[in-house]
Amino acid sequence: MKRLITSFLGILLALSVRANEGMWLPFLLENNIGEMSEMGLHLTADDIYNINQQCLSSAVVGFVDLDRPYSHFCSGSVISAQGLVITNHHCGLSVVQQHSSLENDYITNGFWAMNQADELGGNDIGVCFLRRMEDVTAQVLEGVSDTMTIKRRNEVINSNISQIESRVSDSTGLKAHVDAFYCNNEYYLSVYEIFEDVRLVGTPPISVGKFGGDTDNWVWPRHTGDFTIFRIYADSLNRPAKYSAENVPYRASNYLKINAKEKHEGDFVMLMGYPGTTNEYLPSFAVAATQDVYDPIVVSARGKSIDIIKERMRADKSVMIKYTSKVASLANAWKKLDGERRGLAAKRVVEKKIERERLMRDWIVADTLRQAKYGTLLDDYAKEYAVYQKYRRLKLLIDETFYKSEMIDLCSDIRAVLQSNSTDEEKRTKIVGWLRDFYADYDLETDCAVTSMMVCEYFVNCDNPPVLFKGIKCENMKNPDSNLLRKSLLADSTKAFSVFKNYTEKSSKKIENDIVFALTAEIDDKYSNIKTPLQKSLKKIDDFQRRFMQLQRECFADARFFPDANSTFRVAYGQISGYRPTDAVSNAPFTTLGGVIEKCDLDVYDYTVPDRLKQLSAARDFGPYCNADSSLTVCFLSTCHTTGGNSGSPAFDADGNLIGLNFDRVWEGTMSDLQFDADICRNICLDVRFVLFFIDKYAGARHLIDEMEIVKD
Ligand code: ARG
Ligand code: ASP
Repeated sequence: MKRLITSFLGILLALSVRANEGMWLPFLLENNIGEMSEMGLHLTADDIYNINQQCLSSAVVGFVDLDRPYSHFCSGSVISAQGLVITNHHCGLSVVQQHSSLENDYITNGFWAMNQADELGGNDIGVCFLRRMEDVTAQVLEGVSDTMTIKRRNEVINSNISQIESRVSDSTGLKAHVDAFYCNNEYYLSVYEIFEDVRLVGTPPISVGKFGGDTDNWVWPRHTGDFTIFRIYADSLNRPAKYSAENVPYRASNYLKINAKEKHEGDFVMLMGYPGTTNEYLPSFAVAATQDVYDPIVVSARGKSIDIIKERMRADKSVMIKYTSKVASLANAWKKLDGERRGLAAKRVVEKKIERERLMRDWIVADTLRQAKYGTLLDDYAKEYAVYQKYRRLKLLIDETFYKSEMIDLCSDIRAVLQSNSTDEEKRTKIVGWLRDFYADYDLETDCAVTSMMVCEYFVNCDNPPVLFKGIKCENMKNPDSNLLRKSLLADSTKAFSVFKNYTEKSSKKIENDIVFALTAEIDDKYSNIKTPLQKSLKKIDDFQRRFMQLQRECFADARFFPDANSTFRVAYGQISGYRPTDAVSNAPFTTLGGVIEKCDLDVYDYTVPDRLKQLSAARDFGPYCNADSSLTVCFLSTCHTTGGNSGSPAFDADGNLIGLNFDRVWEGTMSDLQFDADICRNICLDVRFVLFFIDKYAGARHLIDEMEIVKD
């Protein structure tokens, strides 16, 4: 019987482990290289990652905020011996924004430094190179036993991790960071070299770099020229250094060569970079909660507020300017999660997980040792998850409703500072700074409309409608003239500045009596009442998930498991491929500049096309970058497994040359953060041919092309 079950599992897994799924570790690629070669790769595992020799991964970078050096918000790659780095337009947009003004509007017009002296520095982002990665599980788990409490276990682990990190940092002068893998079952060390002087070299106008805007975001067919070029600077000895006029371009011992030839469906593609977070090994009940509870809360609340804000933006140009980026960030997650919950349902992921759990249960009962180890795990986990789900739902509901009211959110931050131990002077400085940022792009009408909708959304969704401040209810928020927010001192910026510029402990009464501060106090209270039990339950959930992961790896011992994304370096691979989003519809894997012109619509902000691009398109002036049919490719699709953080990841051909930049996924496949489905999960890349065409023909920055190495036949 046992043999029968095992061989049945083997067959099931052979069917379920498909190529393309997975974000693999660079130092364990030997396990994948056979499959990669079968798919067309011409390289060895050492060509991709080897700490002792030239390899592709040493030309790949992670983009970091300088104050959060281990949380890579995007990826990129070095493309010249003088430290040119390419990433996405949306990854570099905050830097472009920092350097833009009404006179020099680089966001609208783009920017190209025609020599190195014009490259724009002093930015708060850096790039990191992975210098080494290794398994340190044994050291991290030293002194840990199965009988320990969760609290003690975490204490021992955290102390071991700090010791390893300081030891390696001290001895190498590099940044060392240990991350947990396979749901806290394994621990790997990453050693990074971080360069802090990264300067803006060139970026297209936003009408190209974000062509299609939020309308096309997460959507195929896509025509976005999503790239920006930076350059790394170093000190005279080629070492990382803070921004300084003395610094010189980084001399890169390794950089990517560029394949500017035409690509075809079926071509091998490999991606490297820093995917942020995935949850591929959750039990069925956690996926069900995501699909039916968490995602719908976000989708519903954000969908409604986006509608309200967009209506206000259409009616009033100043609101358009103030709210463009706010609505973009609301919309990015809204659209992604809507795609995710639909994809999970369409692909019956919960049912498939239940079936998998049934196999695990059979595997457990077939052996007494397994029974002792895992006997009640699934049931205990499900029971605790119900507790966790209740609190997580309530917290999410408050996050997505009350705290999405701009004024309530600000009140909450102010309250936290006022209650802190800082001096009055520190409090004043901090709050006045926030007020400045707040009023720079605040519209009271819009916030009133959004807040009243949010209050209704909260009441409709909470289990037992609480009695809130002065009995506020959905109905009495709806009248725009008597909206609560209008009665707050924050409704009037002059009043707000005068109160907080002169703040002393004594003025706190005035604030306590303010109607919105009082409401916020109640919400903050509710929130912290939820957060404490949620944190407690989360610790137990993490421990159940650790053991559940262990169970999956033991039960399906023949399968290859890749660790969930956690902002560490990964390699993904697949092929250029179209897909079928719905019955009878087939999506081709390439888009062209012709498609940009087709979409062009002067009345739709997202679809404006610069005149110069129209002229180049009409003249078919694509230089050596055009296809055999004289079209110019803009984007292509591939089957690589990616997530947020992979933006800017270099896409390589079978020989390790750069062919594109990853920047998004198709809407139907955004479920890949929980379950990759080879039929509908596709990542979207910008073709490097479009990048070269744009730099050469549009921007006239030929000197940059001359710096790059473009492979010839
Ligand atoms: N959806 C992509 C990502 O998650 C791209 C976002 C930037 N583009 C945009 N149109 N908002 O980051
Ligand atoms: N657009 C994402 C990023 O910025 C990539 C993705 O989620 O597919 O990293």
